Amino acid sequence: MKPIRVAVHGALGKMGQTLIEALCREPEMQIVGATDIKATQDHLPLPDGSGTVPLSPELERILTTCQPQVVVDFSTAKAVMPLVRLATERGVNLVIGTTGIAADDIEAIDGLAKAKGMGIVIAPNFALGAVLMMHLARIAGKYLDHAEIIELHHERKLDAPSGTALSTAKAMAQARGKPFATPQQGGKSDSRGKQVEGISIHSVRLPGLLAHQEVMLGGAGQTLSIRHDTSGRECYMPGVMLAIREVVKRKGLTYGLDSLLGLEKA
Ligand SMILES: NC(=O)c1ccc[n+]([C@@H]2O[C@H](COP(=O)([O-])OP(=O)(O)OC[C@H]3O[C@@H](n4cnc5c(N)ncnc54)[C@H](O)[C@@H]3O)[C@@H](O)[C@H]2O)c1
Repeated sequence: MKPIRVAVHGALGKMGQTLIEALCREPEMQIVGATDIKATQDHLPLPDGSGTVPLSPELERILTTCQPQVVVDFSTAKAVMPLVRLATERGVNLVIGTTGIAADDIEAIDGLAKAKGMGIVIAPNFALGAVLMMHLARIAGKYLDHAEIIELHHERKLDAPSGTALSTAKAMAQARGKPFATPQQGGKSDSRGKQVEGISIHSVRLPGLLAHQEVMLGGAGQTLSIRHDTSGRECYMPGVMLAIREVVKRKGLTYGLDSLLGLEKA
């Protein structure tokens, strides 16, 4: 089978570079082009020494000259809608990892994917362990009435609480069909974190951390902790590769990796 032709949007960023290294190791994929607003050269040397691929700040140029089947995006939320409009117009599938996309934009992306018959996967978290942690938390939340989330990230992370913590809390409450029980005392104290659906979310920001989350659930005489830790950006790569393989077979928007992993919504 021919390898899937992939271009990377946001190629000079931290995730873009990790992705290009991973694509070079993947026999089923071929990196054919790269785009980044910061690009100053017209070719990007591949990290495995196998050659170069065209690089440009202009996505349109890369789509025309490199003919990718899939563009993978790790850039900024502002860049996503122009990318989606252009790629869907050109018949190119998309895998989007950029976080912070507004709900209205996600609806618009869904509409464009359907209208143009293209496959788009948006996954705010490609780490398979994190997807499983959220899945298990949704199940556990049906049986234990109290829950708190501690999320820990590097000190450069801009948002707090993290998108993953907010989605975990909302998904847990949705699966259970009602908010979690809130302790009678301390709910209004500054020290109790952000309140979402009866769950307190605590955010830690420290150098030395990458991305970590612990969901703690409590019942009379017992607690249950579900914890996920990342120690390197390569943790995201198996999820991205899965999304690339699947997006070429699907039409419309797939949000999150759950359905690609065969995880039933808890
Ligand atoms: N989904 C996931 O699992 C996951 C994991 C890690 C990071 N992220 C997200 O991925 C995004 C990138 O993260 P990062 O750590 O690589 O950031 P980064 O700042 O290192 O890289 C972003 C790159 O995008 C480029 N860029 C910005 N605007 C652009 C545009 N209009 N067109 C083309 N390129 C543009 C920048 O020049 C930069 O090189 C963030 O939104 C981050 O939250 C998602």
